[in-house]
Amino acid sequence: MSDDPTTPPGRGRVRPAARLDGLRPSVIREMTRLALAHRAVNLAQGFPDFPPPPEILEAAQAAIARGDNQYTITWGIPPLREAIARTMQELYGLRFDPERHVAVTCGVTEAICAAILAVIDPGDEVVIVEPFHENYLPAVRFAAGREVYHALEAPLWELDPGRLARAFGPRTRAIVLNTPHNPTGRVFTREELEGVARLCIEHDVVAITDEIYDRIVHDGRRHLPLASLDGMAERTITIGGLGKTFAVTGWRLGFACAPEPLASALRTVHDFLTICAPAPLQHAAAAALAMPESYFERTRADYALRRERMMAIFDRHGFRAQAPEGAYYAMTDFSGLDARRDGEAFARLLTTEVGVAVVPGSSFYGTPGLGRSVVRWAFAKRLETLDEVDRRLERLPSVLAANPA
Ligand SMILES: Cc1ncc(COP(=O)(O)O)c(C=O)c1O
Repeated sequence: MSDDPTTPPGRGRVRPAARLDGLRPSVIREMTRLALAHRAVNLAQGFPDFPPPPEILEAAQAAIARGDNQYTITWGIPPLREAIARTMQELYGLRFDPERHVAVTCGVTEAICAAILAVIDPGDEVVIVEPFHENYLPAVRFAAGREVYHALEAPLWELDPGRLARAFGPRTRAIVLNTPHNPTGRVFTREELEGVARLCIEHDVVAITDEIYDRIVHDGRRHLPLASLDGMAERTITIGGLGKTFAVTGWRLGFACAPEPLASALRTVHDFLTICAPAPLQHAAAAALAMPESYFERTRADYALRRERMMAIFDRHGFRAQAPEGAYYAMTDFSGLDARRDGEAFARLLTTEVGVAVVPGSSFYGTPGLGRSVVRWAFAKRLETLDEVDRRLERLPSVLAANPA
């Protein structure tokens, strides 16, 4: 959202690689910097402002004190890989051999990049469902692949296999699918996922799934991994993370589970991207995955309260939104409040003048013009923080009146 956020061209041979053309640093994280500069409450970037469970902090501190401070085995310490494989089996009936099929990565961001670099050849097409988390497009470009977008339609954001089929063609090599979905809050149903599975099988395509919010679902819903559907286990790279579930986004911990030969390819990429995830934090992650079911139940109940508070705030201040089914975001239409400004200008005004940072909807789209009159709010915050947002939004009508577009 700065004047020219894309990489400057340079001259002669002293210039950035052509694959960066049109790419820019993350808008979400740019909004965080703007929030810090203006002391705004940061509902832009998806991180909790409440602490992680004390058990896992103690496990991290104990690992450092014990001396677990050197490189680990590239794919992750065995107890963590075993915990990941056990969790996938217990929750979803998915069978992965921790010795061969699991890799611990530096966040889901790295896992997505490693997965795409592992399967995409130059010119291959990758289907990306819009709106999408910002890191998918750069990952496709790093691999010299070509993105093909399929846009979900507001307000229901349903996956319609008939329309999705138009994005598949002879050059399609992979689809990236995120459920529970950021930014819409959809948790895709079995019927919707079966439609995706049919297309993947018919076109012999790899599915790369981003399931980072699998433990944050609302109203008794259940997350369903695409890999658990018939015919999908052998063609899916299932990616998950610990940052959101355990409120440790700064620890940079994710993982990828895949069958051969995809797992070996991904492990090779991961080895040379980052060698391994932070050693002591891997020990804490193994402890985190062993937390009792009551922790996950409490987390869901707490998120239900935050969602309720956030929806009431939208209602009170004139933002239109669907209650999210999972994850901790809401996309809201602000056109009833300000029909003239686009999302970038609106998000900037909200951050600098009202003191509440959000993300312009357009940053979740690659198709120009989409997402213009929506902004995204991340509500992984203490209720007191959300109350402060409520108070600050009282000023919105006068700020809009004083700042005509
Ligand atoms: C859908 C989705 N994928 C990936 C990420 C990034 O995950 P990580 O912090 O583990 O790299 C996020 C973070 O907000 C996200 O919402």
